[in-house]
Amino acid sequence: MTRHLDADDAGLRRAAQMLRRGGLVSFPTETVYGLGADATDDTAVARIYEAKGRPSFNPLIVHLPDAEAVEAYCVMTEDARRLAGAFWPGALTLVLPIRAYAGISKLVTAGLDTLAVRVPDHPVAQAILRETARPVAAPSANPSGRVSPTTAQHVIAGLAGRIEAVVDGGPCGVGVESTIVDCSEDEPVLLRAGGLPVEAIEACLGRALGLGPVAPSTAPSAPGQLASHYAPSGSVRLDATETEPGETYLGFGALGADMNLSPSGDLVEAAANLFSCLHQLDAMGAERIAVAPIPDHGLGRAINDRLRRAAAPRD
Ligand code: TXA
Ligand code: MG
Repeated sequence: MTRHLDADDAGLRRAAQMLRRGGLVSFPTETVYGLGADATDDTAVARIYEAKGRPSFNPLIVHLPDAEAVEAYCVMTEDARRLAGAFWPGALTLVLPIRAYAGISKLVTAGLDTLAVRVPDHPVAQAILRETARPVAAPSANPSGRVSPTTAQHVIAGLAGRIEAVVDGGPCGVGVESTIVDCSEDEPVLLRAGGLPVEAIEACLGRALGLGPVAPSTAPSAPGQLASHYAPSGSVRLDATETEPGETYLGFGALGADMNLSPSGDLVEAAANLFSCLHQLDAMGAERIAVAPIPDHGLGRAINDRLRRAAAPRD
């Protein structure tokens, strides 16, 4: 039985209590809904992998309430400090060298000597982290390989019966996952385009980010790069300026018919709508989806990354 909790005081207390007892609780962040577990509890973390059906070599992001809490576990390089100061709380995940496991389950890092950490900017996530008073491991709350959830209803549709509860905080504002920057070596490297535009990160650092593994691969050093990911059930064709017979069109700007990511051509709005639209296309039973071209700057980079994965050949 998966409980649907309101994001009021009682719901938040209940959620924290469930997490402290080893339960799996999904909660909203500004990017997407996370599937939380106490990161210090091996069994709870193992249950995340089980609930998602996730390949166990894919490590998890640990969520903490502030940068000070991060320092207990990780080495903050100068670049990391600067980025954290500018963008935390927010849609940025930093991969940092581990200073001390301090109880964090080895299952969280899947054997790497770095930890991915994020300080979310969502009042419900913040309240849960403070009330739980533990580091919380939380991947996106979807079955592995499926589209990330941006509402509590999406979470229920994918994981009902496999998790203890979902805290309903309404739709996520950003709508795509956090941008991941690896600050564990001298040169910061972009591992995943996401809700924080790369341009803002580069402006803050005063230099370009190195590029992580661009080509999809299954190597443990390139997690999150599995080719087919973020996929709706139907096939996906990109950069379509018109539809072929039998296709459902996911438009952008002036190019829009069946469904439109943002009629006004606003990339922020498009990011917020992306996963909802893909979930809706699934619910409609769309078998062939054609997607309009999306400009490849700002949040468009994250949107195009997710769409390319959705369009990638499937096993
Ligand atoms: O916005 C988000 O980041 C959401 C919300 C819930 O915070 N979380 C999320 O988590 O997207 P997840 O698990 O779906 O994606 C985390 C990505 C994965 O691709 C994982 O492989 C990568 O982060 N990752 C985790 N630890 C890593 C590490 N030590 N080094 C490199 N990549 C890592
Ligand atoms: Mg995910």
